[in-house]
Amino acid sequence: MKLIVENDYEGLSKRASQILIKEIQKDPEIVLGLPTGSTPLGLYRKLIESYQRGEIDFTHVKTFNLDEYVGLEKYDPRSYNHYMNTMLFNHINMKPENIHIPNGKATNLESYCEEYNEDIERAGGIDVQVLGIGTEGHIGFNEPDDELNVGTSVIKLAPSTINDNAKYFKSTGEVPERAITMGLGSILKAKKIILLANGESKIEVIDRLLNRNVVTTQLPASFLLLHPDVTIIIDEEVYEGCR
Ligand code: GLP
Repeated sequence: MKLIVENDYEGLSKRASQILIKEIQKDPEIVLGLPTGSTPLGLYRKLIESYQRGEIDFTHVKTFNLDEYVGLEKYDPRSYNHYMNTMLFNHINMKPENIHIPNGKATNLESYCEEYNEDIERAGGIDVQVLGIGTEGHIGFNEPDDELNVGTSVIKLAPSTINDNAKYFKSTGEVPERAITMGLGSILKAKKIILLANGESKIEVIDRLLNRNVVTTQLPASFLLLHPDVTIIIDEEVYEGCR
């Protein structure tokens, strides 16, 4: 595992974008795994800027998003589908058919999850997976539990996640209770993984991840410790808080 410490959020976003820009330039047909949340917003802004400068081309890039709330329509402003379009896809030249975001309104969720897995396999798996991390250690929406799913599945959101994400809804009660998430297997099969964490709220979880050095289903992100190519980029605040 490689740990990179940047001064602040701007530095973290810049560093992550530099890595991704290089990977996209190296392989224009790259398959990216993408997260939502507040953490990757700076990275997405920098990718858009790089695209506008003509440094990267998304014509042949494929993307798979990690997760989506069950029950939200694609165009719902609180959906991850809407987030991805407004924060990234509307500003770059991705082909719509190359964009994959779980459909929270799928009628048969179980078979839909199977199809999502097959789509990832058919694309040759994820080349570079970008991740944020939940305050309880989730990656995607894989919540701490006795067992973790290998493939894409429907999960029940932890109360802490519902609380953390309530800021995007009118009230805590409006946050969907379930979500579709790529499983730990699909994430760990990615050739390269980049995890981003910044700010005070991530100190405790990154401390558990980096300093305990154990793998446990109670900290889903800890499975990343078993992967041969993981880069964790944090800001100074998280770094100081974990020392
Ligand atoms: C969300 C998403 C995750 C994200 C995490 C952290 O609920 N499902 O993919 O990485 O929680 O969010 P944030 O970046 O806003 O802290």
